[in-house]
Amino acid sequence: MTSVKQNLTRSTELTESDSARLDTEILLGHILGRQRTWLYTWPEYELTEIEQRQFDELLARRKSGEPVAHLTGEREFWSLPLRVNASTLIPRPETELLVETALQLFPQQQARALDLGTGTGAIALALAAEKPGWRIVAAEKSADAVALAEGNRSRLGFDNVEIVQSDWFENIAPQQFDLIVSNPPYIDAADPHLAQGDVRFEPRSALVAEREGLADIEHIARDAIEYLRPGAWLMVEHGWQQAAAVRHIFAAAGLRNIESRRDYADWERLTLGQK
Ligand SMILES: C[S@@+](CC[C@H](N)C(=O)[O-])C[C@H]1O[C@@H](n2cnc3c(N)ncnc32)[C@H](O)[C@@H]1O
Repeated sequence: MTSVKQNLTRSTELTESDSARLDTEILLGHILGRQRTWLYTWPEYELTEIEQRQFDELLARRKSGEPVAHLTGEREFWSLPLRVNASTLIPRPETELLVETALQLFPQQQARALDLGTGTGAIALALAAEKPGWRIVAAEKSADAVALAEGNRSRLGFDNVEIVQSDWFENIAPQQFDLIVSNPPYIDAADPHLAQGDVRFEPRSALVAEREGLADIEHIARDAIEYLRPGAWLMVEHGWQQAAAVRHIFAAAGLRNIESRRDYADWERLTLGQK
């Protein structure tokens, strides 16, 4: 039998991870059904045979590169515990900038918003949590991701969000939104980062877009115009080198008051424009 303390030292086995200690704590906490702080309160706790076997298996899968979120099935976004799986992107902390900016742009308590490519439902559900009076449509092409987002929506109890299976605007009935947001696929197919870290385990359909990663943003900007009421905003997340190209795409689509916003690392990762 091996103690919590001894198992935590096995973080040294995760040589490829740049968050080895944290990963080990999360996986051990997950197996034991405990918070990470509990591990330090009860370092002498001896794992049962079953717990040990389960932990050994998760650690081995992490060693082979599987994302921690896929091993636990959960990732927190905007303080919401979201279920995740291999059907879509694991929500990233940097996408919280998009939620924050949307809330600044549109402080009103009543609004109609559309989230395109909702994945786990992260953006739509975060907005719903802050704005119970908003009506939010969340569109997603992948049937498996639609099921995942719907599961998150119903488990967290957000009745003001409707999850719709749609190839961008295809199944969205003609209507006018106050705000359209999206974190679409924007990585170029030749980007070497696709062969590194967590993204190896995420679907290409959630990550990669044609025309150097800009094809989906072009599609969204072109069609969004019909779905924005005059004065409404479109906002997309994009890669750190794409801001100038996205501003150009927004201008060509007929948007005005176009600007890009920087993330905490000082990269322009978000562009918005008004109809
Ligand atoms: C970068 S992920 C973002 C997921 C989520 N919004 C987030 O921020 O965590 C892009 C999402 O767009 C979806 N997607 C890709 N092409 C699409 C399309 N043509 N129509 C609708 N959704 C699409 C993918 O399946 C994926 O869930």
